[in-house]
Amino acid sequence: MSADYAVRGNVAVITLNNPPVNGLGLATRAAAVDALQRAAADDAVEAIVLMGAGKAFSGGADIREFNSPKALTEPTLHTLIRTVEASPKPVVAAIHAVCMGGGLELALGAHYRVALPGARIALPEVKLGLLPGAGGTQRLPRVLGLAPALEMIVSGKPAMSEQLADTPLSAGLFDELLAPGSDLAEGAVAFARRIAAVRPLPRVRDRLVEQADLPAFLVAARARVTAAAGPFPAPLACLEAVAASATMPFEEGLAFERERFLALTRTVESKALRHAFFAERAAAKVPDVPADTPARPVERAAVVGAGTMGGGIALALVNAGIPVTLLETRQDALDKGVAGIRKQLETAAAKGRLSAEQVQQRLALVMPTLAYEDIAACDLAIEAVFEDLGVKETVFRRLDAVMKPGAILASNTSTLDLDRIAAFTRRPQDVIGLHFFSPANVMKLLEIVRGQHTGKDVLATALALAKRLGKTGVVAGVCDGFIGNRMVEQYLRQAGFLLDEGALPQQVDAAIERFGFAMGPFRMSDLAGNDIGWAIRKRRRQEMPDVRYSRTADLLCEGGRFGQKSGAGWYDYRPGERTAQPSAAVEQMIVRHSAELGIERRAIADEEIVERLVYALVNEGARILEEGIAQRASDIDMVYLSGYGFPLQRGGPMFYADTVGLPAVLAAAERFAQGYQGDAWRPAPLLVRLVAEGKNFNG
Ligand code: NAI
Repeated sequence: MSADYAVRGNVAVITLNNPPVNGLGLATRAAAVDALQRAAADDAVEAIVLMGAGKAFSGGADIREFNSPKALTEPTLHTLIRTVEASPKPVVAAIHAVCMGGGLELALGAHYRVALPGARIALPEVKLGLLPGAGGTQRLPRVLGLAPALEMIVSGKPAMSEQLADTPLSAGLFDELLAPGSDLAEGAVAFARRIAAVRPLPRVRDRLVEQADLPAFLVAARARVTAAAGPFPAPLACLEAVAASATMPFEEGLAFERERFLALTRTVESKALRHAFFAERAAAKVPDVPADTPARPVERAAVVGAGTMGGGIALALVNAGIPVTLLETRQDALDKGVAGIRKQLETAAAKGRLSAEQVQQRLALVMPTLAYEDIAACDLAIEAVFEDLGVKETVFRRLDAVMKPGAILASNTSTLDLDRIAAFTRRPQDVIGLHFFSPANVMKLLEIVRGQHTGKDVLATALALAKRLGKTGVVAGVCDGFIGNRMVEQYLRQAGFLLDEGALPQQVDAAIERFGFAMGPFRMSDLAGNDIGWAIRKRRRQEMPDVRYSRTADLLCEGGRFGQKSGAGWYDYRPGERTAQPSAAVEQMIVRHSAELGIERRAIADEEIVERLVYALVNEGARILEEGIAQRASDIDMVYLSGYGFPLQRGGPMFYADTVGLPAVLAAAERFAQGYQGDAWRPAPLLVRLVAEGKNFNG
């Protein structure tokens, strides 16, 4: 049963019942229509209450039905809403907890709405690049008024029922707010009895949208929405549909909404957003670690090393309410780490994001120490000391010696072999990589590195921890650079080769930023510090002498240009400023280096820059997928969307490659293989195979 039917005296109570949030899937819609017809036919019934079982009225469309023909199979959501609206007996939607998307559209089809305080009301379709396509853009303005409805629909943000009840404009949305904590069904049935005989039945569709000086209002709204929408078409389409509620008769407005909705479903931006939505959910799943795998408790954590990363990780933990013991070797480093945490919290308070009391509460969760004994009882230790295997060995041997049995020993290493680190302990099953991104308290991505011996419960705990920290956890296997950094290395190599051949940093950055990246490779390197890559390249030259890089990045560092922190990098920086200014000295260095290589510099089109950078990611991504370092293509997309500023409207590198078409990607790789440093372009076998089979990365 996905809609329960019961009769209480003269009132039929229809309860949507499709856990977890009463998604309006086909079976639920069909059962609701049946129940409405049954109530209409039942002579004893004079009014109908429509409510949701469990923890929601309804969360809207059933996401399991997304992209499936079921969503369009009768009875569609439209048909259900029309059935409600056309009911000869009054229908009262009884709303609690969650009333979103199609759930709110359904409630707007009812003749009356009663709600429990605290219900969250939203039309979040815009977040998936869509608009509310079941009458939401036509009915919500009729109850809230044009401006508040527009704000809700264009932002997709939830409002709480109390706020709406308090606005004079929105008196129409709820006919009654029940007393806090009261019984929803009882309150709704009592309301239904009171209005059972009232005729004509009030219908939202019969109301008019009133707006003073509508043309001027729409001009201003269009300008505002266009500016905020960035590359996404949905917000403006939402606006046009909402505007139709004021300029067209109801049925015409509905048809207009429908047409815009269908057009949006076909946009690549909406496809990308929906891909990201499902990719995030998929990333939390590991095939051989079922959802019911028991996680270990994490009530107290230790962070070893209070530098850039250790400080940020400690902050991420205390922000989630987890007490942290922060361990260092030296008092000055410890003091500096704690001062950094305090400063960040105080900055958040100065911006009004935290109260003074919250700052104190969070600071009280940080216990600084120089003694390993003080962390022995922690459930989890996250190591963030220098990136040096010898130092890691010292730390992990100590952790192994002092930590209680069952504690999880995690490393934040970005390049070292986790299995070797695990082998420094007698408990490799308890060792895992937790690779945070800088700044660790801000960046959403957490790469969870699964070693050869990492226990399933340890992996389950790490995935649960990511969620607690508000991060997107993505599981990666052991290799140099894991998913994100291993791919970015190929991207950075191409950026360097482009300099050798004729481009300048500002041109490369501008081209990839126009593609949609938050920051181009050279501005990014200046921010992170060019010395980090320098050290990695020095090590690589010994380990893998055949892998070539442009020498320009080394020349830059040899000249002391480490980036923003040294006041100069790929760009010049005025004292105290972070704005990147193109540098004549860097240009000279690059041009001179090309001459030394005997390269005649050429004009490089932006299109080539974008293809070389992005396809370098794709080709390495394909190898990572084939080697099983990533579980699925969408995990790679999640890494790039949440950790590397890849443009969301393009859905991540692998999804983007799918939309371009893998044959075009392969053809470009083969073309680049004929050019400068062409051996960087050996196509990944998986890419070749998928092209031969006519398949995509994302299925
Ligand atoms: P950092 O140099 O800022 O901090 C390292 C800290 O560890 C220093 O405060 C040092 O005093 C302390 N330390 C050294 N040996 C120690 C020991 N035996 N016991 C306790 N503390 C000790 O380095 P950063 O940037 O924070 O990097 C730390 C780790 O995080 C490295 O493995 C690095 O590869 C990784 N990582 C760095 C990222 C970044 O953007 N900086 C990003 C992701 C990972």
